[in-house]
Amino acid sequence: MRMYDLIEKKKMGQELSTEEIYHIIDGYTDGSIPDYQISALLMAIYFKGMNVRERYDLTMAMRDSGEILDLSSINGVKIDKHSTGGVGDKVTLVLGPIIASIGVPVAKMSGRGLGHTGGTIDKLEAFPGFNVELSDDDFIHQVNDIKIAVTGQSKNLAPADKKLYALRDVTATVDETSLITGSIMSKKLAAGTDAIVLDVTVGDGAFMKTKDKALELAQSMVDIGKRAGKKIAAILTNMDEPLGYAIGNNLEVIEAINALRGNGPKDLMEVVYSLGAQMIAFSGIETDKAKARLLMEKAIEDGSAFNKFVEFIEYQGGDASFAKDINKFKPAKYIIPVKANEAGYVHAIKAEAVGLASMTLGGGRETFDDVIDMSVGIILNKKVGDAISLDEPICFIHANSMEKAKVAEEMIRKAVSIKAEKCDEMTLIIDTVE
Ligand code: URA
Repeated sequence: MRMYDLIEKKKMGQELSTEEIYHIIDGYTDGSIPDYQISALLMAIYFKGMNVRERYDLTMAMRDSGEILDLSSINGVKIDKHSTGGVGDKVTLVLGPIIASIGVPVAKMSGRGLGHTGGTIDKLEAFPGFNVELSDDDFIHQVNDIKIAVTGQSKNLAPADKKLYALRDVTATVDETSLITGSIMSKKLAAGTDAIVLDVTVGDGAFMKTKDKALELAQSMVDIGKRAGKKIAAILTNMDEPLGYAIGNNLEVIEAINALRGNGPKDLMEVVYSLGAQMIAFSGIETDKAKARLLMEKAIEDGSAFNKFVEFIEYQGGDASFAKDINKFKPAKYIIPVKANEAGYVHAIKAEAVGLASMTLGGGRETFDDVIDMSVGIILNKKVGDAISLDEPICFIHANSMEKAKVAEEMIRKAVSIKAEKCDEMTLIIDTVE
């Protein structure tokens, strides 16, 4: 099989066979096919796409490029949750303990943040001592014991994706549905759970800026998951403005702790309950989603979700006294209000720009080697739809450098739109694909 012929075939819009797709992925993973040929192929896929059968083969070949976790020794229906990325997204920190406290096994591999989006693993490191690198055995043992474990992605999980993603990043071929499907679903399938609930974000702070593109991606991932024999659903959620009020690592962790104690922002809780109801339905514990929601509300009210969070942090070696006393988190040196220049209603708080402002403060990374400043970030004082008066703070910048705070302030001012006429709050749950 000549790589040249396979590039030519896709360039002409023809279908690649299962054998050809495995040849490409295996050859790229072991280094026998060079970057320049894969780059050309990626661009051909970008323009010509892949049908569902090709996408499935691509996903399976990428899954098979590394280790596939065997979670069969965990009792019950194992469920994973994945977000395609957002700003202020602390959903896993809240949702995981809630549904684990109800008895749903949460076996979750999470990533670190990159660019304007945050990562769960970084946030969990806010608890001193928290171990983000569990061995497979410890991971399985923990889920059996306390129903929840969250670990960083094992190095040998879908190694083809690591190489391909890095190449897509520099060849302008990230935003193509078949390639995103292969990338996300290969990792989800290698992670070995029985069911997957996808949070496909839509809007300014998301990968997919429009509902149509997000729906196409959601449908594609659900198709592949079903073909692979998994229970799977995707929920499209709005990411035009940040989720909740807090953006930045410690600030988001504090918001998550408050949410588990019953003081969660409305939008965050809406996403948590929608994803959670689907997870609980898949688990078989409660298939009526309205009743599943009541179970989750009860877990917050009676303290069992918060207690589960404390148990989970302690089990993984973290200092859970921070969860019991949020004043223990080190604050940033400066807290600076960004005041409104006019009165009216908030029409937009663009999520991507706010995420980038937080990154400018030191709260995010440009490359995987960057070190994050855990204490910086932004606390919104208003959400889209709120009334605001002149000089009232739109948000508060938490910074360790005045210089960086000034740059962040400029970025936030450009991201916020205030108009005289009233404006509705955003619709959060846009659609569901099952
Ligand atoms: N997240 C991934 O893991 N892969 C993609 O291609 C896009 C988002």
